[in-house]
Amino acid sequence: MQDERSQPQPPEEISRREWMGKATISIGGIIGLTLAIPTMAALVPDVDPGRPAWTGMDETAWKHLQAATDTPVQIDIQMHSKDAYLTAGSPQSVWGIKVKDPKKFMRDRSDLFAASGENTLPYPVLNIGFALFSPICPHLGCYYDWKPMFKRFACPCHGSQFDRNGAHLAGPATRGLDPLPLREQDGIAQCQWIRYSPTVPSRIVVSYIG
Ligand code: FES
Repeated sequence: MQDERSQPQPPEEISRREWMGKATISIGGIIGLTLAIPTMAALVPDVDPGRPAWTGMDETAWKHLQAATDTPVQIDIQMHSKDAYLTAGSPQSVWGIKVKDPKKFMRDRSDLFAASGENTLPYPVLNIGFALFSPICPHLGCYYDWKPMFKRFACPCHGSQFDRNGAHLAGPATRGLDPLPLREQDGIAQCQWIRYSPTVPSRIVVSYIG
């Protein structure tokens, strides 16, 4: 007996099947896109195409840093916006050091200066006698801390360590601490929040507050 499927079909039956097939593919495509777009959006950093904005720093902590000698100071900053990872208004802080010997700093942080002494980043790393560091460990993004007993910064996640000038001393991080731009405007200290790609030796911007 001949299979019913091998029988010639009337034209309207064929076009109905074709329509059903195309409709199924279209609906599948729409569902796929609906799922893919948010997933892709979550993977792409929300980088403002402009420039990083200046963010005010806590006045008391800034005065504390100005009076500091050898101890790094953690300074709160006031986020009015967000980068690709932070939510607006989330508390944040940076680390500041007073640089008494710029030549030593430049020797220790040869990753930040060319042989001519010029900054390799597009902003001055040393400004008004201070340097600021992002609080984010360049290994995988944990928050490190200053250990006064050992006079070094240490990350609790995988043990990376950095000296007072932010130079990498030990652990899996592939670069020193990331410096941030600093300026003083009308007596108010301001910084720019920039987040660099983790793990790699070079500094690749992944997001900033714009
Ligand atoms: S995140 Fe700091 S050592 Fe791994």
